[in-house]
Amino acid sequence: MTRHAALPGFRDFYPEEMARRNQIFSVWREVARRYGFEEYDGPPLESLELFVEKSGPEIVAQLFNFTDKGNREVTLRPEMTPTLVRMLGAKIKELPKPVRWFSTPQLFRYEKQQRGRLREHFQLNMDIVGETSVLADADLLSAALDVLRSLGLGPDDIVARYSDRRLLHQALLALGVTEENLPVAYNVIDKVERDPREVGIKRLTEIGLDAKTAEEALELTSLSLDQIASRLGTGEITDRILAELRLYQSTLTGLGFGEYIRFDMKIVRGLAYYTGIVFEIFDRRGQLRAICGGGRYDRLFHSLAGVDVPALGFGFGDVVLGELLKDRRLAKNYTRSADVCVIAADESARIAAIDVVRQMRSGGHSTIFNYRALEEGKVDVGKQLKYAVTSGAARAVIVSGSDATIRVKDLATGQQDEMTVQQFQQRYPPAR
Ligand code: HAM
Repeated sequence: MTRHAALPGFRDFYPEEMARRNQIFSVWREVARRYGFEEYDGPPLESLELFVEKSGPEIVAQLFNFTDKGNREVTLRPEMTPTLVRMLGAKIKELPKPVRWFSTPQLFRYEKQQRGRLREHFQLNMDIVGETSVLADADLLSAALDVLRSLGLGPDDIVARYSDRRLLHQALLALGVTEENLPVAYNVIDKVERDPREVGIKRLTEIGLDAKTAEEALELTSLSLDQIASRLGTGEITDRILAELRLYQSTLTGLGFGEYIRFDMKIVRGLAYYTGIVFEIFDRRGQLRAICGGGRYDRLFHSLAGVDVPALGFGFGDVVLGELLKDRRLAKNYTRSADVCVIAADESARIAAIDVVRQMRSGGHSTIFNYRALEEGKVDVGKQLKYAVTSGAARAVIVSGSDATIRVKDLATGQQDEMTVQQFQQRYPPAR
């Protein structure tokens, strides 16, 4: 055991893990670009207050918070949304709407370590601000699903389950839950798949529902959209929400993701600030926790920044996604690599070899050489070739006498050719 291991729930990224992290990040960025999102970032340390009121008790219990040396109550950020709202709240009037922003922050939550849950993780956050249209909701979910599709995961691998907090609100009020007790009812439904049924019933009876109504509240979670619609009957609000949900569904189908989505009243989201359509993405086998979650939060700008701006977004974590890619053998295999390893054929070629290193690098090739073998009096071609192979270089470039001609050895096939550095650069453009 090493003397200083990483803290529980924190990862060391050795090159193999770093390559996997980069694979995820490059798809995140590529999708964000394709959907027209601009990148931003904020500070990893924020004032405690920013999270305490609006994120809800679950996340507050998991904060990495402390008092700094200036006596400020601060916390490592557990999520990005309050920071985004703080930053945009100050500038929203100047910006053309809707604002489409993305970020890939590292976040910190003091969670119980388990499969797919650590104490730090990275999240792709994509948020659309200043837009009420449900087409924005559909576009946002399609971006999250596109990340998964771009990584090779299809509708047989993953499913986006969505619901609407307004619909749940209506249905719970109709059962007699008071506005004041809604957060408890949401929390019970959010945990319906994890907690035993009796726990849910008990918590609902504690907020004043009789046993039969508590059962009915839990039953709501297995109803289809049509069943909910007939249960609620027609009414201006309900009709509008249902029409929006149907447009959401058909737009997602139009965008190519119809097979990936399913209405599901069990989706509430743990965070307190959501106000409309909410969704979570899961693996179909149901072995892992949520891969991604988000939704509409139309009142958070008002309560955190004092401006009335509708907004929606999601957080897409790297940990569960990494597990899923490994399970389905879609994670990139890591190999050490360089385009070129420069080798001196003999003592007299050392200076010329260094010059070839310079030329190769300025031409954009990733170029390495064996330091000790090029030291005065230590040139050994066999050793340099072995070094080239173990370093994962694609080609060895052997320099003899002057750099006018080089011998290029393909380390996979063993084939050798003579050429000038310029000819090499034209024939073999840099790999990246
Ligand atoms: P969240 O559901 O708390 O949402 O987190 C989103 C995703 O982050 C989860 O689905 C999961 O993949 C990942 N995640 C969360 N906690 C952990 C953890 N401890 N270890 C590993 N992965 C984790 C939010 O954070 C919202 N702020 C998302 C959002 C953005 N809503 C609107 N805009």
